[in-house]
Amino acid sequence: MWNGRHFLSIDDLDKSDLLTLLKRASAFLDIGDAYAPDASLNGKIIANLFLENSTRTRCSFAIATKRLGGNTVDLLGSTSSASKGETLVDTALNLEAMGVSGIVIRCGEDGGPAIVAEKVKVPIVNAGDGISGHPTQALLDALTLTRHFGTEDLEGRNIAIVGDIAHSRVARSNLQCLTKLGAKVTFVGPKELLPTDIDCKCTTEFDQVLARTDCVMMLRVQFERDAKVGEDYREKFGLTEERATLYEGAIMHPGPINRGLEMDDVVANIDSSPHNLILSQVAAGVAARMAVLEHLIG
Ligand code: CP
Repeated sequence: MWNGRHFLSIDDLDKSDLLTLLKRASAFLDIGDAYAPDASLNGKIIANLFLENSTRTRCSFAIATKRLGGNTVDLLGSTSSASKGETLVDTALNLEAMGVSGIVIRCGEDGGPAIVAEKVKVPIVNAGDGISGHPTQALLDALTLTRHFGTEDLEGRNIAIVGDIAHSRVARSNLQCLTKLGAKVTFVGPKELLPTDIDCKCTTEFDQVLARTDCVMMLRVQFERDAKVGEDYREKFGLTEERATLYEGAIMHPGPINRGLEMDDVVANIDSSPHNLILSQVAAGVAARMAVLEHLIG
């Protein structure tokens, strides 16, 4: 059961928790660029501790905090004392001692945010840990899809997650979240990039799955985690222009994109199709993170 104190894993939430957060996030999305009227983080400082690189997640947590009336302090791996060997827990304890109201953590260590959550009193938000989880990404993806379909949940939808599943925390959190919301998830990829540790329908036959899916989530091949792909990867598993022309379902990618590999350049462009939701995902990210921060800290 989710105690509502930290946001560590989708596994901790049930469908009703997810629907509550989605409803609030959707209301924030409707407000647009304006500041949230009740400014529930007024006077509070949130630490963004990012020990792995990020564009979307880090900026959207900062914007979400500011839209809720709060302030942020940013700590990056390369410029923090983590580069001198300070542990994640020691870093978090120091931030807490300085009076921050919450800590958003991205780290390469699987389970890192959960370990910190046991040692500090302030709320911890998992912004991506190793290959284990990226729960706010899953929440923003669900928000994007429910808004796209105009439904409260994802009951009966077929969703394919395609590519480097083995190294993907996005795939793991999305499997939990989409399934709880009623969708049927299929993982697609070359055998060596399909997971051996997750209970999910897996296949190497992209075209068969594409023909009956409501949404395709393309994943980045994570070369920095030593993913290896063959020369035929784009042809077999890429959302090529040819495939995209025949496909009418929603197109998603959490970013950053390897253009020309998992997705053709023209397909990645937002004006390529009304079903291309890639930048809608980014916009939804701010709203989803506002809902999480407000719930935990506001
Ligand atoms: N989707 C995502 O996590 O992107 P960043 O790594 O840029 O935050």
